[in-house]
Amino acid sequence: MSITIRRISANEARERDAALAEALSDVLIDCVEGGASVSFMLPLPRTKALAFWRGVLEGAARHERVLLVAQTAESRIIGTVQLITALPDNQPHRADIAKMLVHRDARRQGVAAQLMAAVDQAAHEEGKTVLVLDTVTGGDAERLYLRAGWQVAGVVPNYALMPDGAYCGTTFMHKQLAV
Ligand SMILES: CC(C)(COP(=O)(O)OP(=O)(O)OC[C@H]1O[C@@H](n2cnc3c(N)ncnc32)[C@H](O)[C@@H]1OP(=O)(O)O)[C@@H](O)C(=O)NCCC(=O)NCCS
Repeated sequence: MSITIRRISANEARERDAALAEALSDVLIDCVEGGASVSFMLPLPRTKALAFWRGVLEGAARHERVLLVAQTAESRIIGTVQLITALPDNQPHRADIAKMLVHRDARRQGVAAQLMAAVDQAAHEEGKTVLVLDTVTGGDAERLYLRAGWQVAGVVPNYALMPDGAYCGTTFMHKQLAV
């Protein structure tokens, strides 16, 4: 599958394009319905997903986060990831990675690997050298991050819930980028 990774510009985010929020909600709802532990529980109402993405777009418009999307040649959004850059004053060199999501229709074709490469590039452009994320211990995403050169900092048992309410452990990871 031919895909393009695109950074949503601050202007585009400022316009808070309804179609963009709908498309990102499609991906988020699909992931949660597929059992991904990404902050939300089942059932995930569309209104809640849309409110989440509107907030993300507001943050991108304020340059507090970078929003990347993966889209097909037909411009369908099938994946996304964020670089959260607005952190405390004593961490100007650091960013968090959040909401790495690929629609189930598009998995196991390297979309997430491409998003990870693009988010590294975005971090470099933003002058960030220390990246941090957390993910379900033993999940598909943990393997993805290890392949992308991330290191495990530690595991917190029972840190979060799966969408169906079961406890899950969380692995905290970091990646040091060259200056
Ligand atoms: C984790 C997630 C983002 C991975 O997305 P993806 O696009 O399928 O990831 P990739 O295609 O880069 O890699 C997935 C697997 O496919 C394999 N793969 C990649 N390209 C392939 C290809 N062309 N042919 C066959 N396999 C391929 C990878 O080696 C990897 O194998 P693994 O399962 O043994 O680790 C996706 O499963 C997802 O969205 N999950 C739900 C949300 C979630 O949990 N996000 C993480 C939040 S921290």
